[in-house]
Amino acid sequence: MADKATLSYEGSSIDLDVVIGSENEVGIDITRLRGATGMITLDPGYANTGSCTSDITFIDGEKGILRYRGYPIEELAEKSSFMETAFLVLYGHLPNEKELADFENDISEEAYLHYGMKSHFEGFPDNAPPMAVLSAMLNILSCYNTELLTTATEGPKFTEPAAKIISKVRAIAAWAYRTSIGKPFMPPRPDLGYSGNFLHMMFSQQFKLYEPLPEVERALDLFLILHADHEQNCSTSTVRMVGSSHASLFSAVSAGVGALWGPLHGGANCEVIRMLTGIHEHGIKPRDFVEKAKDKNSPEKLMGFGHRVYKSFDPRARILKGQVDAVLKALNISDPLLDIAYELEEMARSEDYFIERNLYPNVDFYSGILLRAIGIPVNMFTVLFAIGRMPGWIANWREMHEQSLRISRPRQIYTGATKRSYIPLGER
Ligand code: ACO
Repeated sequence: MADKATLSYEGSSIDLDVVIGSENEVGIDITRLRGATGMITLDPGYANTGSCTSDITFIDGEKGILRYRGYPIEELAEKSSFMETAFLVLYGHLPNEKELADFENDISEEAYLHYGMKSHFEGFPDNAPPMAVLSAMLNILSCYNTELLTTATEGPKFTEPAAKIISKVRAIAAWAYRTSIGKPFMPPRPDLGYSGNFLHMMFSQQFKLYEPLPEVERALDLFLILHADHEQNCSTSTVRMVGSSHASLFSAVSAGVGALWGPLHGGANCEVIRMLTGIHEHGIKPRDFVEKAKDKNSPEKLMGFGHRVYKSFDPRARILKGQVDAVLKALNISDPLLDIAYELEEMARSEDYFIERNLYPNVDFYSGILLRAIGIPVNMFTVLFAIGRMPGWIANWREMHEQSLRISRPRQIYTGATKRSYIPLGER
C-alpha cells in the first residue's frame, strides 16, 4: 500500500502521509494540511474523519465485527463477566486471577456514596430525568474527591477515580431511582457481584431483600458487557473533547452522559419501547408503522434501526435478540412487544427502503425488551447504557492523555456576512 496520498488544488499539490491501522484501515493524515496550504477539510457529522488512533475497540461496520482489545464481542458475551471486560477495556489485557480479584475488590470498596450526597438527591424534583440526575451527580462526585482532579493515567491518581466512577455510578443510578419513587436508599451488599448489587440497590425492600434469578443477573451483566465500549461514537468523542481541555475525568464522563442521553444515541433504547408500546396500545398495524417510518413527511423513524458505522447486523443486537428469549422463559413471562419487534424487523429486512440504506437493528432494538423484562423502568434504560459504557469512556480518556493529544478544536468554513459597519439603533 502507498504510504503517501497526493492532494491537488489550483495547480499545486501536497503529499500527505497515509496511516494504516492493524486491521488495514487506511487514513490520510492531514495534520500538516492547513500549515502547508491554508486549507482545511470539511466533514459535518465527522463521517469521514478519524479523530485519533486507538488500541481499544475495533469495528468493521460492513462485516458486523466488534472486538474489544482484539477479543470478539461474541466470545466476551459468552465467557466473560462485566468486571473482567471492564478491566480488559481499561488496561488492555485480560486480568489474571489476582488482578481480577484486586479490581473487583477496589470496585466493592467504592460501592458506597458519601452521605453528604444525599442532600443533593433530595434537591431534584420527583420527575427529574434520571440522565440529568446522573450527569449532575457525576460532577458532584468530583466535589468529594478534589484531590483526584488530575489527568494522571497511571498509579492511584488514575486507578482510584476510575474504580470510584465505575462503582459509584451504580449507586447514583439506584439512589436517583429510589428518590424518584419516594423510597429510602438501599446500601450495597459486599457479598454480591457488580450486577447483582445494582439490582439489589434498585429493588430490595427494607424487610425483603431482592434475590435476582441467576439468569437475570447474567442478562444484566451481558447487557453491560455489550455496552462497554464502541470506539469514537458521539458520547465517547464528547468525553475525549471535554478531557482534551484537561478537565477532570469526572466532568468528562458527566458530559458523556449528556451526549448519550439523546434519542439518536443511547436514548434510543427508551424510544424503542415507547414506539413498541404506542403501536401495541393504539392497535397500529406494524405494516402501517413501517410505511410511516419510510415517509419523509412523517416524523416517525423506526427507532433502534440504522447506525452510522454498521451497514450490516449490529453484532450486539444479534446477541441480545438471542438473550431476550432465554430471560423471558426464565421469568416465565411473555411480552407482546417482542412479537411486534419481531414483526417490524422481519418487514424492515425485506423492504427495499431499509435494504438500500443498509438499515439493520442496532443494539437498542432488543435491549429495551430485555431491561423491561428484568423490571428496569423505561426512563432508566439509558442510565443502564451509561453504566455499561463507563469503562469505555474512561479508557478513551486515559488513552487520549497517554498520547498527549492537543486540545480538540475543529475549525469551520465561515458562510456568514462579510465585514459591515455598525448601524446605530434609531437608524435601523
Ligand atoms: N428509520 C427510517 N429511516 C432511517 C432510519 C430509521 N431508523 N435511520 C436512517 N434512516 C434513513 C435516513 O432518513 C436517510 O434516508 P435518506 O438517505 O433517504 O435521506 C438514510 O436512512 C441514512 O440515514 P442518516 O440519518 O443519514 O444516517 P446517520 O448515520 O446520520 O444516522 C442514526 C444514524 C442516527 C443511528 C439513524 O439511523 C437513526 O436516527 N436511527 C434511529 C435512532 C437509533 O436507533 N439510534 C441508536 C443508534 S445506536 C447507538 O447510538 C447506541
